[in-house]
Amino acid sequence: MRPADPATLYPQHLAVLCARADEALSRSGHDHLLIPSGRRHYQVFDDRDYPFAVNPHFKHWVPLTQVTDSWLVYTPGQRPKLVYLQPFDYWHVVPEAPSGWWVEHVDVHVIRTPEEALPLLPGPPSRCAILGEAQSTLGAYQPNNPPAALDYLHYQRSYKTPYELALMRQAQRIAAHAHRAAERAFRAGASEFDIHLAYCAAARQDATEVPYQNIVALNEHGAVLHYTQLDRDPPAERRSFLIDAGASCCGYAADITRTYAADPGGEFQAMIDAVDAAQQAMCAAVRAGADYRQLHVDAHLALMGILREFGVLRVSPEAALATGVSAAFFPHGLGHPIGLQVHDVAGFAASDRGGTIERPPGHPYLRMTRVLEPGMVVTIEPGIYFIDLLLDEVKANGHADAVDWARVDFFRPYGGIRIEDNVLCTGDAPENLTRPAFVAQ
Ligand code: GLY
Ligand code: MN
Ligand code: MN
Repeated sequence: MRPADPATLYPQHLAVLCARADEALSRSGHDHLLIPSGRRHYQVFDDRDYPFAVNPHFKHWVPLTQVTDSWLVYTPGQRPKLVYLQPFDYWHVVPEAPSGWWVEHVDVHVIRTPEEALPLLPGPPSRCAILGEAQSTLGAYQPNNPPAALDYLHYQRSYKTPYELALMRQAQRIAAHAHRAAERAFRAGASEFDIHLAYCAAARQDATEVPYQNIVALNEHGAVLHYTQLDRDPPAERRSFLIDAGASCCGYAADITRTYAADPGGEFQAMIDAVDAAQQAMCAAVRAGADYRQLHVDAHLALMGILREFGVLRVSPEAALATGVSAAFFPHGLGHPIGLQVHDVAGFAASDRGGTIERPPGHPYLRMTRVLEPGMVVTIEPGIYFIDLLLDEVKANGHADAVDWARVDFFRPYGGIRIEDNVLCTGDAPENLTRPAFVAQ
């Protein structure tokens, strides 16, 4: 399928954002919506700035991720206005004059200093809903983040427009291409650090551009959920490789995990294959009306079924779930919403007027508790790990008999398995955004 052109989809996206902003402003009782792009953050007692992370609301309107001290201004009935800082600066690369598919749809005003934005912002400030962090304050324009507006906009952000989906599909293609390069580097015997570099080179994105820190884990390191250490030397023996790495496209994230075995004929590969089949069934369950909390519980049962089949578990999946033993092997959530942020907002939102849908008891790391609806994109990332800290708790809690410890000893040197795709809920069958991107490589 030919990638959809964001240029043709952007006007409709902008119309959706304007309509949402109209409603948000009417709910919060303001006349104008102001979104500062953000300011640089500096390291304490230092003049070094952190990698810039743009206000997600800003990049929702315009595909700009690297402009500071700029403002998106929206007044109902008017075209969106972009106040765009292009400073006179010989220390840094000055952002280029705005160009691209989107500029003709917004009124662009170039400024040379942050303060020049002031006369271009509508007033008075008390009539403005200003979404951002406190440090974006400019004169009397201080972010007020009205809850009624934010609750509405965050909730609505779950429903991706065709424009957003086009960019998310492109992020998938970039990441899948890099995942292939990383697998080749693993099979060639590279270290974690060199696999990471191979990934970034193939993605053409460095550590500040990918949407989260790459997790590149060989052997036992796969059992560390957020392993970002990156050993410089290859291990003496290569057994397994877990990579959780994404890519960005115009500010939209992909979040993908794959696990590989060095020995294609071994039991660990067989367990990967079993998790992969189960994961695809979980992806197929991303249907409108499905409660994500139930998908999470179902995932526990499916994964424990695999552990039972491989002789690791001695009790039924239901018993493992009830006693908390399953949480020792699958200690994170099934997934989360994804979009402008890798862990996107509103995963717990009860409605567009606020409220929280609590996690089920005993599942403290689940990041999504909503009922799925068309337009939502979520990750589906089941995993099985051999984590001594958690397995010791199983023993301490009196459930040692539930586990065959010799089988744990066998699998521990492989670390763990996680397989993660990004899946679009539709009115019909779900669309797995990730798998076709791998096929296209
Ligand atoms: N890469 C972080 C996550 O999977 O949620
Ligand atoms: Mn991930
Ligand atoms: Mn994820």
